Amino acid sequence: MRNKSHSFIKTKLIVIFCSILVLIIFVLKRTSISSSSSNSVSHSTTREKHYQNPKCPQQCTKLPTSLSDALVHYVTTEITPQQTFSEVSVSKRVLDKKSPCNFLVFGLGHDSLMWASLNHGGRTLFLEEDKAWIETVTKKFPNLESYHVVYDTKLKDSIKLIELEKTEDCKSVSDPRDSKCALSLKGFPADVYETQWDLIMVDAPTGYHDEAPGRMSAIYTAGLLARNRFDGGETDVFVHDVNRPVEDEFSATFLCRGYLKEQEGRLRHFTIPSHRTRSVGVVDVSKELVCGIIDYLGEFNFRKMAEWSLKTFLMVCNKVDPTVKPPGSYMNRLIETNFKVES
Ligand SMILES: C[S@@+](CC[C@H](N)C(=O)[O-])C[C@H]1O[C@@H](n2cnc3c(N)ncnc32)[C@H](O)[C@@H]1O
Repeated sequence: MRNKSHSFIKTKLIVIFCSILVLIIFVLKRTSISSSSSNSVSHSTTREKHYQNPKCPQQCTKLPTSLSDALVHYVTTEITPQQTFSEVSVSKRVLDKKSPCNFLVFGLGHDSLMWASLNHGGRTLFLEEDKAWIETVTKKFPNLESYHVVYDTKLKDSIKLIELEKTEDCKSVSDPRDSKCALSLKGFPADVYETQWDLIMVDAPTGYHDEAPGRMSAIYTAGLLARNRFDGGETDVFVHDVNRPVEDEFSATFLCRGYLKEQEGRLRHFTIPSHRTRSVGVVDVSKELVCGIIDYLGEFNFRKMAEWSLKTFLMVCNKVDPTVKPPGSYMNRLIETNFKVES
C-alpha cells in the first residue's frame, strides 16, 4: 500500500516537472520569435525610409553638379587660392551656420568658386574692378555672378581719406547711395544696396601699389551696408590682407575694434549689428548716445474706442489730438512723424 502511494507521488512529480519544462520551452520560443520579428520590422522600416520614401527619391542624396564640378576643379588645378587654410576656415565656420545666405565678395579670384560652393543654394555676388579678368573667370565658371565696378580712389590718398572718420558725413548711417561721405561707393547696381547681406568679404580691389584703388572705400561701404541693414540682422564682415596699413587702419576705424570677433593670419572678422533697429546704443565712431522710443500697441477695442471718442470730444476745444487713435490714423501719424521721405 505504502509502495503504491509512493509511486503515485513520484508519477505526479514527473508530470509536474515535465509540464513546467514544456512551459519554459514554450515561453522561450515565443520570446525569441517576437524579438527576431521585431528586429526584422525595424530593419525593413529603415530600409523603406532610405529607399522607398516617395518624398525623397535618389535626387535628395545626390551631390549637385555645381558642387561636383567645384570638387574636380580644385583637385585638378595647380593654382591655389591666396587665403590660407586657417583663414578660409574663419569664414567657412560662419557659412556653415548661415548658408544658404546672401554673401557679397569684393574681388573675383581663384577662391570664388569655393565661396559660391560653400554658400550653395544662397546668393554669392562678386564685385570686380578688372573687366578682362571677369571675362576670363566667367568663361571658365559661367555660374558665378559678378558685377564690374569702378573705384575712383588711389592708395596714395589713403592718409587723407582716413581723416574723414571725424566728419559727420562719414559718421552718419544711411543707404550708401545717399551718403555724403566721399568713401561711400555709389556706382553699384541697385540690388547691391537693396540686398540684406549676411556676409561681406573684402579681398579687393587691388591695393599693393600707390596708383591702385586700395580698399579704403570698399571697407567703409561694407561697414555702411552692415549698419544700414533694415532687417535687424548681424553682418559678418571679413577683411583680408590686414598686414598692410590701409586694410589694418581702415578696418579698425570704420568697422570698429569693438566689433572685431577674431583675427586669423591676415584675415580679420567683424560682426556688425544693424544700427537701424537699436532702441539705445552708442555710435561707435562718434561715441554719441542714440536712443529710440518704444511704443506699446494695443488692440483698438471697445474701451479704446470709448477713450478716443471722449478725448476727441474734450480736446477739440484745445485743438489738440488725442494720442489714442483708430488704426488707420495711427499709422498715418507714425509715418508722418517718424519716417521722412526725401525726393
Ligand atoms: C588680392 S586678389 C584676391 C584674390 C583671391 N583671394 C584669390 O585667392 O584669388 C583680388 C584682385 O586681384 C585681381 N586678380 C586676382 N587674380 C588675378 C589674375 N590671375 N589675373 C588678373 N587679376 C587678378 C582681381 O582684380 C581681384 O579683384
